Amino acid sequence: MIRGHGGNVLELARRLGCDPADICDMSSNVNPLGPMPELLAHLHRRFEVIQALPEVDAATMTAAFADASGLAPEGVLAGNGSTELIYLLPRILAPPRAVVVGPTYADYADACRLAGVPVQQVTADDAGAFQPPLDRLQEALQSGDLVFVCNPNNPTGVLLAPDILIDLVSSRPDCVFMVDESYLSFAGEGLSIAPRAPENTLVLSSMSKVHRIPGLRIGFLSGTPSLIDRLAAHRPPWSVNALAQEAVTFLSANPAAVAQFLKETRSFLETEKQRLEERLQGCQGLRILPSRTSFVLLQLAPPATAAEVCLALARERILVRDCSNFIGLDARFIRISLKDGDANRRVAECLDRILEMAGKM
Ligand SMILES: Cc1ncc(COP(=O)(O)O)c(C=O)c1O
Repeated sequence: MIRGHGGNVLELARRLGCDPADICDMSSNVNPLGPMPELLAHLHRRFEVIQALPEVDAATMTAAFADASGLAPEGVLAGNGSTELIYLLPRILAPPRAVVVGPTYADYADACRLAGVPVQQVTADDAGAFQPPLDRLQEALQSGDLVFVCNPNNPTGVLLAPDILIDLVSSRPDCVFMVDESYLSFAGEGLSIAPRAPENTLVLSSMSKVHRIPGLRIGFLSGTPSLIDRLAAHRPPWSVNALAQEAVTFLSANPAAVAQFLKETRSFLETEKQRLEERLQGCQGLRILPSRTSFVLLQLAPPATAAEVCLALARERILVRDCSNFIGLDARFIRISLKDGDANRRVAECLDRILEMAGKM
């Protein structure tokens, strides 16, 4: 749903009376190194494709993506961003109940509610460093459940090892699992369960984050052809636009350049994450949760609250995510998405100052 999301640069720019370009957006989880320059150049060259309708079912680019990902084309469905596929799933599968492993991305539960599917939340806790509570999940599961797992998870950054996930989904063939791997390329290579997912499992991926093309709206769902067929029958025609189809075809045809770009991205993020942690270690009353992806979750100690810290950062024209509206988190969590070295240094300096002042109040 439109209101369940985090920071909004345009709204903050309006409030501050400044240009949106002057705001450092550390709330949006997109690759600080992206998009690939080769991709942008290709899209500029091919811009005229917007003059015609795109392929109605995006079959050509879906086959190219499937081939590059080691998947069968009939087991892949493309969507207008992974969001379209998240909302399609509960509506079409119409399960008696959904289970969401949280704290996590709000749209799984929102999509279920819109589809009239009741949602049970199983949330990891702070004491367990937000590791997914697999024992509690097993106890909670009922036959027919549609289960949402985000891996690595937004906003905690926790990654479940592929073997653990495969064990989980295989142990409950009577449930359907949707594993959201939208942030997986930030975590490492070869971690996707898609090529070996059992029949009860759908795997979601997004090009928005890692390729930094959220405006193009490209996402994929993979699974058994029968499940994919059922979902495909309800997707609107021309759901994936012409430039998006160009982008996927280009990326799929250039696997070496993409692999190199992803490698550089991971190496950059690793260094920047370590630097941010070192800088924040000295901050009063701040806990940094270990993350395997491009953002980090921070826990503030009283008296600081997420709302106050986000407001103070906003005055410095830095937008970070207030995580207090995630089910399973509270008013003391914020999420910072890593950007370029300057931005990462600046947010640490500002946080240090803000928390020191909060400690004196
Ligand atoms: C975990 C997760 N999945 C899916 C999405 C949706 O991404 P898109 O629709 O751009 O593919 C987001 C966006 O923030 C997300 O955080």
